Amino acid sequence: MAMVAVIGMQWGDEGKGKIIDFLARRADIIERYQGGDNAGHTIWLHDKKYVFHSTPSGILYPEKYNISGDGMYFNPIAAMKEIKELQRQGVEISPKNYGISGYAHVTLDYHKDYEQFLEELMDGARAGGKVESTKKGIGPTGSFKMNRVGIRFAEFLDEETFGQALERVLIYTNKTLGTDYKAKEYLEQYREAREFLKPFLMDERTYIRQHGEKNILFEGAQGTFLDIDYGSYPFVTASNPTIKGIGYPIDHVIGVAKAYITRVGAGNMPTILGDHEETKKQSRLLPEEYVGMLEKINRGEATDAEIGRYLRAIGDEFGATTGRPRDCGWFDVPLIIRARDISFVDSLAITKGDVLNGMKEVKICTEYKLDGRKIPYEKIGIIIANRRLFAQVEPIYQVMNGWQSLDDTNYDLYLSEIKRLVGIPISIISTGKERDNINMIIDPFIKR
Ligand code: IMP
Repeated sequence: MAMVAVIGMQWGDEGKGKIIDFLARRADIIERYQGGDNAGHTIWLHDKKYVFHSTPSGILYPEKYNISGDGMYFNPIAAMKEIKELQRQGVEISPKNYGISGYAHVTLDYHKDYEQFLEELMDGARAGGKVESTKKGIGPTGSFKMNRVGIRFAEFLDEETFGQALERVLIYTNKTLGTDYKAKEYLEQYREAREFLKPFLMDERTYIRQHGEKNILFEGAQGTFLDIDYGSYPFVTASNPTIKGIGYPIDHVIGVAKAYITRVGAGNMPTILGDHEETKKQSRLLPEEYVGMLEKINRGEATDAEIGRYLRAIGDEFGATTGRPRDCGWFDVPLIIRARDISFVDSLAITKGDVLNGMKEVKICTEYKLDGRKIPYEKIGIIIANRRLFAQVEPIYQVMNGWQSLDDTNYDLYLSEIKRLVGIPISIISTGKERDNINMIIDPFIKR
């Protein structure tokens, strides 16, 4: 029996949902340990699409127990709608297979107002400006929690405590935002969600303690470089997608990475193909619009921005939560090594290699340069800690032969090179969109 964690190694959107869905078959308990409805995990099953924002992706297995954990920022109205929608799609969700930690902090509407206020204030600010958040109120839920004006899920469910906590927090909110919110109106607005969610209240720590002999899977949302402590601050989310957000003795940590890299929202990405401001303006391409793009890339005539646009189209790199176009770039080894070291990742799951199918050549960033000098891996952490220096690093690339399909030996060579450079094995390879398009090389639930 083992505790296994699945963590994003990049800036989120690594395809964790699918890996979690696959591993959930071997687990008894699945816990989403942090983040909120800013996340969007997509699972395709028999051509039907299921999107999870607040509920763990293990919910598609009715016999497993799922937890929205202590470290989550939980939006009750969004969660209620999500549960109802999943139930409408035929998914079984009841207190028998799903619990919400009383320690999770609730995200309420005034958090979103606060976020908008901050983003407007920062717009155009020198050296940074907006974070370009998902606008779900995640940052303020985190900062209110730290300011001791947050509200826990257990409190939210208790009308008396919730009312008192609202009185307190609205003094703070009304004073700083100039609003005139009334506790009574808030109480009413959330009544239905409170009644609906009440049966799901649970205490995660006690539950995990009592079920220590089971296989437990910890589901990360977002990715390492969005971590509030270890990410590319300040362009990060407000919780800990890394191992820091879990707080249990984990047996195996699986790091999920795409065969390339993406990022959505503001902030630097060293291997970006093109330009963030340009990416933001782009819409989805129709298949007939990207015919000929691959040939152009393979003739060596495409610009970086065009390669990025092609990857975005083929990889469907548009946010599951916000629909925003994602920046695309080449696989970045220094970042993956850093993510390995932050979370003590002991194997990799590689996803979406098929998006690169048909490319004559692909690149891997093996190292960074700063001021013309190579940076040793041990120095990467201290550079990411400083936004000005991290914005200046330049990638050094190794060019590799591309592949036609994932059965091609060139794809094996690509994966072997990643394995060699990162220094840990690959345990899982995702080979396509569907649930069964997956190869498991090492079973993480077997203790080694
Ligand atoms: P927030 O989490 O909404 O505060 O957004 C902060 C940053 O994290 C922004 O750059 C978002 O685009 C990014 N972000 C938040 N959630 C996700 C996710 O699930 N996938 C990818 N990026 C995310």
